[in-house]
Amino acid sequence: MNSILDSRPALKAAVDDVAEVAGYLWQKGWAERNGGNITVNITEHVDDAIRHMPAISEVIPIGTTLPHIKGCYFYCKGTGKRMRDMARWPMQNGSIIRILDDCASYVIIADQPVMPTSELPSHLSMHDYLISTGSKYKASVHTHPIELVAMSHNPAFLGKDVLTRILWSMIPETLAFAPLGLGVVPYALPGSVKLAEATLEQIKDYDVVLWEKHGITAVGQDVMDAFDQIDVLNKAATIYLRAKSMGFEPDGMTDEAMKEVQDVFHLPKTRPC
Ligand code: 13P
Ligand code: ZN
Repeated sequence: MNSILDSRPALKAAVDDVAEVAGYLWQKGWAERNGGNITVNITEHVDDAIRHMPAISEVIPIGTTLPHIKGCYFYCKGTGKRMRDMARWPMQNGSIIRILDDCASYVIIADQPVMPTSELPSHLSMHDYLISTGSKYKASVHTHPIELVAMSHNPAFLGKDVLTRILWSMIPETLAFAPLGLGVVPYALPGSVKLAEATLEQIKDYDVVLWEKHGITAVGQDVMDAFDQIDVLNKAATIYLRAKSMGFEPDGMTDEAMKEVQDVFHLPKTRPC
């Protein structure tokens, strides 16, 4: 069967990266059944032939109006599709959509009419915001990392930057590679516009956002970048929980030690250390 990826190496590489990360999410145990979703803004790879491709779905409402994504194209995981399947067959478990001129609806254009993820309102709201700021970020990843979700069940961790500080202090690399820390969104129904709106507020300050009792959503320059930030934060959460399971509260790096990392690595000082 012909694919939109045929003879388009840059677009194929972007989708192959999504498939690679989908495999990591499954291997890490963060993607039970259809858990998690990925979208990538692929508009930079779109040529005239793609622009003229007919819709293979009816017009589908997004549920919200997003003026900055008008005419943009996104690769999206399909709703109900499994990451472990997407890792092998990304175009059978995801599809490419075109945002219509009303900025409130889309059509699927390739390869098959796979209905996009139920979290599309959150993903597209973040892409819309990123475009409006001139950001180079193209990817959004939502997944269910075990340790971070476990920590989100403790209200004491959910205050502004409480979890950020604990996680940064577990291992210096967390501060270096997740320098904006972790935003928190109170529990909201999966797939809801309320969840999308709350996520959008947090993504203005953070690249990575914790959805209470649900999962993580991160944005990045590409899908690897978004995945890496979740991975380093969940590593820190795992270290915290391993220390607790050995029966002690981990010491954590001192404020001075963390400040030193911020200075030496020239990290943005947006959060208190
Ligand atoms: P989808 O299968 O619709 O992508 O949903 C998975 C999920 O994690 C919802 O939050
Ligand atoms: Zn989810």
